[in-house]
Amino acid sequence: MQSIGLKPGWRCIEAGAGPGHMTRWIARKAAPAEVTAVDLDTAALARLTEPNIRTVCADLTQSLTADVVAPASFDLAYSRFTLLHLRERDEVLARMYDWLTPGGWLVISDSTDFAANSGITDYGTAMTAMWETLEKTIGTSRQWARRFPEQLARLGLTDLNLHAYLPVARNRNATAEIIRRTMIELRQKMVATGRMPDEALARLLDHLSTPEFLAFGFPMITTWGRKPS
Ligand SMILES: C[S@@+](CC[C@H](N)C(=O)[O-])C[C@H]1O[C@@H](n2cnc3c(N)ncnc32)[C@H](O)[C@@H]1O
Repeated sequence: MQSIGLKPGWRCIEAGAGPGHMTRWIARKAAPAEVTAVDLDTAALARLTEPNIRTVCADLTQSLTADVVAPASFDLAYSRFTLLHLRERDEVLARMYDWLTPGGWLVISDSTDFAANSGITDYGTAMTAMWETLEKTIGTSRQWARRFPEQLARLGLTDLNLHAYLPVARNRNATAEIIRRTMIELRQKMVATGRMPDEALARLLDHLSTPEFLAFGFPMITTWGRKPS
C-alpha cells in the first residue's frame, strides 16, 4: 500500500472485508474519501466507527449493480484472504478490475501452502490435511497466489509487482493462535482425510500452545498492478 502511494482522497473498495481490519486502515489513509467494504456477512463491519466506511452486504460471485458498486470509479480495489477461497475467483478478479478507474490500482493478498513443508513433521502433515480439507469443502486453491503475476498480466494491468510475507508461529503468538484455532475448527475433516490420526492432531494442538513451538505460518503473497490510463 505504501509503494502505490495510497493517500487522502482515494476512493477505495475492499472485497471480502471480514471484520474490517484492513478496511479501517485504508479508511484512515484515504479519508475523507469513502471506502466501500463488501462482504456476504457484514455483522462485524457494523462495529467500525470511521465515518467514511460504506458497508455493502453482497455476494462477490454475482455481478453487482451500478447503484451498489459503480464501475470504473475506484482508485484502489483491494482483497485479502478471500479470493483463494472462492471457486469463482477469476470472475471476481475481473469484476474488481472493472471497478477501477483508469490508472487505479488492484492489490490482492492471499496465502499458499509453504507452511506444509516447513519442517516439523506432524505440523507439515496437518497443514497438508488442512489445505486438502479446504480444497474439498469450499474450493480453496493453494496454487492461486502462486499464479498472481500471470493473472494480473492477463487482465492487462501494468506496473506489476509481488511481495511475500512469511510469519513465524512461536511462543503462543497471533500466528500460532490463528493456526491452532483453524485446526480446531477443521479437526474432524482433517482427520477424515486419512493423513493424520486424531491423537497426533491433539498432540500437535498441545504443542502449538507451548512456548517452545517454532515453525513458519501461512505466507501472505501480495500482488499489485495498475489499470492502464
Ligand atoms: C478469510 S475472511 C478474510 C477477511 C479479511 N479480508 C481479512 O483479511 O481479515 C474471508 C471473507 O470473505 C467473505 N466471503 C466469502 N465468500 C464471499 C462471497 N461470495 N461474497 C462476499 N464475501 C464473501 C467472508 O464472509 C469473510 O468475511
